[in-house]
Amino acid sequence: MKKEKKRILTGDRPTGKLHIGHYFGSLQSRVRLQDEYETYILVADVQALTDNFNNPEKVRENILETTIDNLSAGLDPKKCIFVVQSMVPEIAELTVFYSNLVTVSRLQRNPTIKTEIAQKKELFGNSGESVTYGFLGYPVSQAADITAFDADCVPVGEDQLPLIEQTREIVRKFNSLYCKEDEPVLTEPEALLSKASRIKGLDGGTKMGKSLGNAIYLADTDEEISRKVMSAVTDSAKIKKDDKANPDVCMVAYYHKLFSENELDTISDECRAGARGCVACKRQLISNIIKKLEPIREKRRYYESHREEVQKILEDGTNKAREITKETLRNVKRAMRIDYFEE
Ligand code: TRP
Repeated sequence: MKKEKKRILTGDRPTGKLHIGHYFGSLQSRVRLQDEYETYILVADVQALTDNFNNPEKVRENILETTIDNLSAGLDPKKCIFVVQSMVPEIAELTVFYSNLVTVSRLQRNPTIKTEIAQKKELFGNSGESVTYGFLGYPVSQAADITAFDADCVPVGEDQLPLIEQTREIVRKFNSLYCKEDEPVLTEPEALLSKASRIKGLDGGTKMGKSLGNAIYLADTDEEISRKVMSAVTDSAKIKKDDKANPDVCMVAYYHKLFSENELDTISDECRAGARGCVACKRQLISNIIKKLEPIREKRRYYESHREEVQKILEDGTNKAREITKETLRNVKRAMRIDYFEE
């Protein structure tokens, strides 16, 4: 399949609604990239199941939610193609072939996997018996995602870099084993590292996370946003309204940096001088967050009441994507000389 532009593939695990950490971390840059690149967004339900195999209903429910979040953030269904991973069997086939090209110990040493296994051990308190074969192998299936689409670039956050490196290794191994030196079948993808750093939670925690209860969701109502901002952590040394305070240790000031660009100097000067009460400061933040999220929420309201349209975007996108993935699988099998029934 000829490409007119360079191609990117990016993916989300459909396990819950996206929050403003995702917005600043990845959605915003996707919106920018969709004009420059041919863009594919993979709703990675197979990968989500590696962690949620005991709760497929949760994954099912979030397929539409994740897609709506992306569309609401400004991804244009005329420009980018949305794909449901489990409906692309070529990805599963490629995963099987690639799984011979990577050792178990290499997967265990993958920094992303290592961290996730450590977290599991902390949660379940055993020495790793809970780690399934499917979970350990998800970097291989992610390599299949990326190469099935013949993606040139993968926009990711820092935590995903080891997965892209793993993909590059598999690609090199495949090409060197099965292809002539000057005719590689698979493209080695580049990571496009998102510059935005990780956004802290309202409680000051280093990460905004679903399970941590410290996140503002793109789908939150005005009341939810108000309630969450009102309970955000401020400078604990400030007791009275006109006490001087330090914005550097205040989560409200931290969020002003994201939502109140033009008012920042005033906010921090007034805070330091004791000329701004925390309640007023929080109200100002609430109103700025609501203003910024309003266009996103407006689109969300549209898609929520047109779910069949979202379903169609996924179906059409998946069908279109398979024209590419089928061709990749054909080339892969031909290179491996296991294309027995093809002339
Ligand atoms: N691993 C990614 C995440 O957890 C999701 C993902 C699946 C992905 N397949 C992908 C990302 C392919 C980029 C490319 O967020």
